[in-house]
Amino acid sequence: MAETYRALVVDKAGEGTEVALIERSADELPAGEVTIRVAYSSVNYKDGLATLAKGGVVRKWPLVPGIDLAGTVAASRDPRFAEGDEVLVTGYDLGVAHDGGFAELARVPGDWVVKRPDGLSLRECMAFGTAGFTAALALDALDRHGVTPAAGPAIVTGATGGVGSIAVSMLSGLGFEVAASTGKAGEHDYLRSLGASRILSRDEVSAETRPLDAAMWAAAVDQVGGSTLPWLMARMTYRGAIASTGLTGGPAFKATVLPFLLRSVAILGIDSVFCPMAERLVLWQRMADDLKPPHLTDMIAAETGLDGVKDVLASILKGGVRGRTVVRIA
Ligand SMILES: NC(=O)c1ccc[n+]([C@@H]2O[C@H](COP(=O)([O-])OP(=O)(O)OC[C@H]3O[C@@H](n4cnc5c(N)ncnc54)[C@H](OP(=O)(O)O)[C@@H]3O)[C@@H](O)[C@H]2O)c1
Repeated sequence: MAETYRALVVDKAGEGTEVALIERSADELPAGEVTIRVAYSSVNYKDGLATLAKGGVVRKWPLVPGIDLAGTVAASRDPRFAEGDEVLVTGYDLGVAHDGGFAELARVPGDWVVKRPDGLSLRECMAFGTAGFTAALALDALDRHGVTPAAGPAIVTGATGGVGSIAVSMLSGLGFEVAASTGKAGEHDYLRSLGASRILSRDEVSAETRPLDAAMWAAAVDQVGGSTLPWLMARMTYRGAIASTGLTGGPAFKATVLPFLLRSVAILGIDSVFCPMAERLVLWQRMADDLKPPHLTDMIAAETGLDGVKDVLASILKGGVRGRTVVRIA
C-alpha cells in the first residue's frame, strides 16, 4: 500500500473555498522527477490569496498551497539530485498550479530544485522563503542599477511584512541608512531593531501627492503599490530607483512621467517566480553570506506547525502578520 502523508488542501466550496488538513496517499502526488520529504515551508501573502476563491493565483483545484518548501530528497529520477540531498523550492507553479509545501511530501520537476546553500539550515532557507528571495532580488536590482549607500537613504514600505522585514535588515546590513513605513504603530521598536533609523506611517506614504516633491530617497523597496508608488516616485533623488515588489495597497497607480523625465527615476520590476535558475543559485548563496540578516531566525521568523497554518493564512490577508512564519512540517 502506498505511503500516506498529511497535507493542507484548499478546494472550492460554493462561492467560497474550504481549507482542510487531510491524509493523502503518495499515489496522489503530482508529476515530477524529485520527491521531497518536506521539513519546513513558510507562509507568504500569496499563500493567503491561494485560499480565496477569487484570489487570482490558483490555477488548479483542489490544491495543496505553499509556494515554498525545504526538505530532503526521498527519491529522484533526475541525475542532478540523489536521495538524502537537502534542497529547497520556491516559485514556479508551486502552490498555485502544482501541489505545494504545506504537506509532508511533495513532488516537483527537477528544474525547480535548488540545493541547500552552504551556510543556511533548511529552517533558515524557509525563514527567507519567497519573501527573502524577493528582497534579495530587489537589492540585487538596485545594486545593478548603481544605487549604493553613498547615494543616499533607502525606504522600505509595508516594512513589518515578510519581504519588508528582510529588506530593512538586508539594506541596513549593506550600510544603507534605512527608513521604514508601517501601518502598525506598535512595531516601531521591532523595525528599529532590524536597522531602521526612521519610521513613517502607512498613511503618510499613501497620501495623495503632487508629481514631484522634495527628493529624499535614493532607493526604495515597495511592497504596497497603489497610492504609495506615486508618493515614492515624487520623492526619489536624482537617478534614484524603486524596486517594485508588491501590491498590498492595490495593483493600480496614477502618476506622471515627470519623475522619469526630470530626475531619471527608475522603477525596477521584481519577479521571484520565474527568476532564471543560474541567477537563483548565485542569489541564494549570497543570502547565506553577505545578504544574511543578523536577526533572521530570532526576530524575523516565528514558527507554526501544519495545523496552525490556516490561522496565519487568514491573518496575513489582513496585514496582521509581523515578519515571517516558518511552518515546521517534519
Ligand atoms: N514580486 C514578487 O515576486 C513577489 C514575491 C513575494 C511577495 N510579493 C508581494 O509583495 C507583497 C508583500 O508580500 P509579503 O509576503 O511580505 O506579505 P506580508 O508579510 O503580508 O507583508 C505585507 C505588508 O504590507 C503592509 N500592508 C498590508 N496591507 C496593506 C494595505 N492595505 N495598504 C498598505 N500596506 C499594507 C503591511 O505592512 P505594515 O503593517 O508594516 O505597513 C504588511 O505586513 C505582496 O503584495 C506580495 O504579493 C511579490
